[in-house]
Amino acid sequence: MKKRFSAVLLIVMLMTLVTNVVGCGADKAQATADKKEPTVDKKGILVVSFGTSYADTRKVTIEACENKIAASFQDYEVRRAFTSNIIRKKLQERDNIQIDSFEEALTKMKEDGFTEVVVQPLHIIPGEEYSEKIIEPAAQFQDSFKKLVIGRPILTNIEDYKIAAEALKVQMPELKKDQAVVFMGHGTHHPANACYSCLQLVLNDTYDNVFVGTVEGYPTLDNIIPQLKEAGVKEVTLMPYMLVAGDHANNDMAGDEEDSWKTILKKEGFTVKTYIHGLGENPEYQNIYVQHVQDCIEGNPMGLSEE
Ligand code: CO
Repeated sequence: MKKRFSAVLLIVMLMTLVTNVVGCGADKAQATADKKEPTVDKKGILVVSFGTSYADTRKVTIEACENKIAASFQDYEVRRAFTSNIIRKKLQERDNIQIDSFEEALTKMKEDGFTEVVVQPLHIIPGEEYSEKIIEPAAQFQDSFKKLVIGRPILTNIEDYKIAAEALKVQMPELKKDQAVVFMGHGTHHPANACYSCLQLVLNDTYDNVFVGTVEGYPTLDNIIPQLKEAGVKEVTLMPYMLVAGDHANNDMAGDEEDSWKTILKKEGFTVKTYIHGLGENPEYQNIYVQHVQDCIEGNPMGLSEE
């Protein structure tokens, strides 16, 4: 009798133990699952530009590009950063508009639990702004996300130049023999200034009488004027080769001051027309940025073809 009771007791004890162990195991599995990162990734696209304090052009260039990117990648949240501290300060003080710097924006995305981030610059060339304000500071965020990919500016690989040249057709006027388009690029002391000369050569494959100069690099307008005369050009249409039509386009290019390109060309005897629209307004340039984001998502941020 006593033995039997002990056996029953033993069985009950064993069953309790087994149940506990199994239960405990299940609890443990649950705890591990809770600790795991969410299985659904939080994905974001940070669109980075130099920025502009001109509200009108900001809306139709930077904002339009951001909106097109947002519409193209609906499972990504699109955010904005400006690299220019001067512009950000001006917007804050004058218009009470707060815009993050690149580092601030990435820090917030980290805090907000983003797991995948595509950084898409709206820059034209891979120059100083791109390398020092985006590539370099991004390095410290590599461990902040499961995936952090940086897209490329408009003019990066050779195919990009051809696409950029083709995309200008949208805004290019029909040119007679004595008419020309002169683009004002920004220009830089950075080695990427060579991009403008490469662009000129690629444009020559498609267009006659289309020239690229720069405000702060090489070539300058002085280099272009003899070429215009040589080609028998009488009328010049000035266009910015910049994302926005801001200070440079409105003043250095199309302003009435003595040293504006418009004034200089008029003095040289040319009839001058101005087209004051940034490349960001050109729907084909907006599409280029969308494609560069797509390339990032596909793991090919430099857009190199497989050969
Ligand atoms: Co400038």
